Amino acid sequence: MKKQPGWALPDLKAAQVRTNRQSPIRHEVFTLPEQLRRLGAGKKYYLRTYGCQANERDGETLAGMLELLGFAPTQETADADLILLNTCAVRKNAEDKVLGELGSLKRLRKTNPDVLFALCGCMAQEEAIVTTILEKFSHINLIFGTHNIHHLPDLLYRVMVDHKQVVEVYSQEGEVVEELPVKRFASHKAWVNIMYGCDKFCTYCIVPYTRGKERSRAMEDILAEIRSLIQAGYKEVTLLGQNVNSYGKDLHLEGGFAKLLEESAKTGIPRIRFTTSHPWDFSDAMIDVIARYDNIMPFIHLPVQSGDSDILKIMGRRYTIEQYRELYDKIRARIPDCAFSTDIIVGFPNESEGQFEKTMAIVDYCQFDNAYTFIYSPREGTPAAMMTDNVPFEVKQQRLARLNEVVNRYARLRNEAYQDRIVKVLVDGVSKKNPHVYSGYTETNKLVNFTNINAQIGDIVKVRITECKTWSLDGEQVMD
Ligand code: 5AD
Ligand code: SF4
Repeated sequence: MKKQPGWALPDLKAAQVRTNRQSPIRHEVFTLPEQLRRLGAGKKYYLRTYGCQANERDGETLAGMLELLGFAPTQETADADLILLNTCAVRKNAEDKVLGELGSLKRLRKTNPDVLFALCGCMAQEEAIVTTILEKFSHINLIFGTHNIHHLPDLLYRVMVDHKQVVEVYSQEGEVVEELPVKRFASHKAWVNIMYGCDKFCTYCIVPYTRGKERSRAMEDILAEIRSLIQAGYKEVTLLGQNVNSYGKDLHLEGGFAKLLEESAKTGIPRIRFTTSHPWDFSDAMIDVIARYDNIMPFIHLPVQSGDSDILKIMGRRYTIEQYRELYDKIRARIPDCAFSTDIIVGFPNESEGQFEKTMAIVDYCQFDNAYTFIYSPREGTPAAMMTDNVPFEVKQQRLARLNEVVNRYARLRNEAYQDRIVKVLVDGVSKKNPHVYSGYTETNKLVNFTNINAQIGDIVKVRITECKTWSLDGEQVMD
């Protein structure tokens, strides 16, 4: 790969740096110069997003910008003039999928020599990945990172009009840019970013490098967004951040996330969710607000990662398993019907059988409603990737299988408690499998498939649960 003039390539070392400088919050910076307005006219884009909700939400901004440029969406890569992959770097298998996709998409050039390939998201922030892509997939036209998605129109102009191969990845976060175009993928529930980045630096995690320093949006901007969503008929918002508990710390905002949650609840939107919360800075004030407001949903995603305090320490998680249990107990006591989900990593470097059994024990203790379980995946540039590891991969696979078995057992047990109960369901739409069946989620985030009397997308209806499965509930709508 030969670096071209004008390229900005990712730099992991620079991405690690944290300063006290507050990121400026900028309004009205996104404008579309005249020459860009018809850039995509008559053309189609195919956008594929991988990874977490933050990336999904970025996908909505990317789609919003592309449609403002005149591009129309397509679900078919063969019809597309522009193929944009919005990628995730959290584990190697997520990356492998994208690299595989990039390889197989190349064939489209044969039938459509003008098709453009672009890659953005977390993988674009990784030095080694970008080098590989430029070497092996020279058909790529554009690579840009997570800090400059608002430059997309200009970047595309350089690709489409100046016919340049463009790489623009910044390793230092910039401003918090407000008022970007957005094409929301649902009309009744919405993602709302409350902050960007992460400063926790768990030793296994690439996110602080790919998403940069923690930057909060101003509370007024978030509340204004929620109010405009209410006006547009939205029933649910999910407040998004890599660690929402840190909200406002960089702005020295008094009250932090608890205050934002309370103010969000006061807007009157029927449902508020939030993700993700780090157990370390989950405050009593937050628990109090969640308990006091009916429109803050009693569902908490609380990643535990491991059940062993020594492993947690090496992971840099800043809590012991006793502290996690205490927090869990405290939330359960204040919010009795609360549902919990978690993330767990098995096979962290040198995890012993005894340490793994402690992970099994915390699952027994908390009986999570759901758990996302992963085999540890070394991420280049993170401290854990430098650790030697004496655990064979087969052992990790066996541990994952054992863990999943108990996770599934408790998921089913938690669901069985819903038998014959009447629950409130926010209707998402018709079930994919059966057009007579509707689906939606309970306040506690349980998927319910139900026969309906009269339900429309966005309604909150009452459903009596008639059957409980491991990952969903069946029911029938009841009238008041
Ligand atoms: N290997 C495996 N799982 C990881 N996660 C984050 N980094 C890694 C990694 N290197 C998991 C964590 C996190 C979730 C989003 O992904 O459990 O909470
Ligand atoms: Fe994946 Fe993490 Fe980036 Fe989300 S922030 S896309 S989970 S690497």
